[in-house]
Amino acid sequence: MAQLIITIDGPAGVGKSTIARRLSERMDAIHLDTGAMYRAVTLAAMRADIDLTDPVQIRELIGQTEFRFEADHDDMRVWIEDREVTEEIREPTVTEKVKHIASMDTVRCELVEWQQHFAEDYPRIVTEGRDQGTVVFPKATVKFYLTANPAERARRRQSQWKQSGIKVPLEQILQDIEARDASDRNRPTGPLVAAEDAVVVDTTTLSIDEVIETMLAHIPETA
Ligand code: DC
Repeated sequence: MAQLIITIDGPAGVGKSTIARRLSERMDAIHLDTGAMYRAVTLAAMRADIDLTDPVQIRELIGQTEFRFEADHDDMRVWIEDREVTEEIREPTVTEKVKHIASMDTVRCELVEWQQHFAEDYPRIVTEGRDQGTVVFPKATVKFYLTANPAERARRRQSQWKQSGIKVPLEQILQDIEARDASDRNRPTGPLVAAEDAVVVDTTTLSIDEVIETMLAHIPETA
């Protein structure tokens, strides 16, 4: 198991990826983006044209497909078989469908294992997701739970997409964020919830630097 595990959980659009990238660089750790794993399975299922609500078919697909993830400080790179899909998994069509996959117990069990394997291979990790502090790494060194109001999260998502050349109306993003929040919070397995021992940081009015400084203040200097 890694010697340093920092978990960052929180809802969509709260800034987890940006923060995780910056913090992993500061901590000389790798950045594990667990949402990318759920997205990769979703994209593979869409490509195979199978029913995204059928756990049996999805399970079979996971067994038959080679997924590869490479992590460093930056964004995780993702391959399905030999094809790199790092960009494609971020497309709105995948974002819209990922909730079906993320709410399947069998998928979650499998992906939790993938994530724990990562922690065996790297000494220092900053991991982001929904259940990292609660389910995947209950003994993490420090756990964070980031929040921000939905309107602010929608604005952040829109500007991220704009940078990638994708234009989506704010109202649509807000609806998507609220639907995903509801789905993430209400599923029985690995729901979106702050771990009891997590440090909760409301990022609504904070800059990225301020969020990082707040977090660093909670990480032991010896870590
Ligand atoms: O963080 P993201 O938007 O890339 O996550 C994509 C989806 O995967 C999102 O709907 C929530 C889900 N997810 C999850 O259920 N558990 C995780 N550990 C990470 C992501």
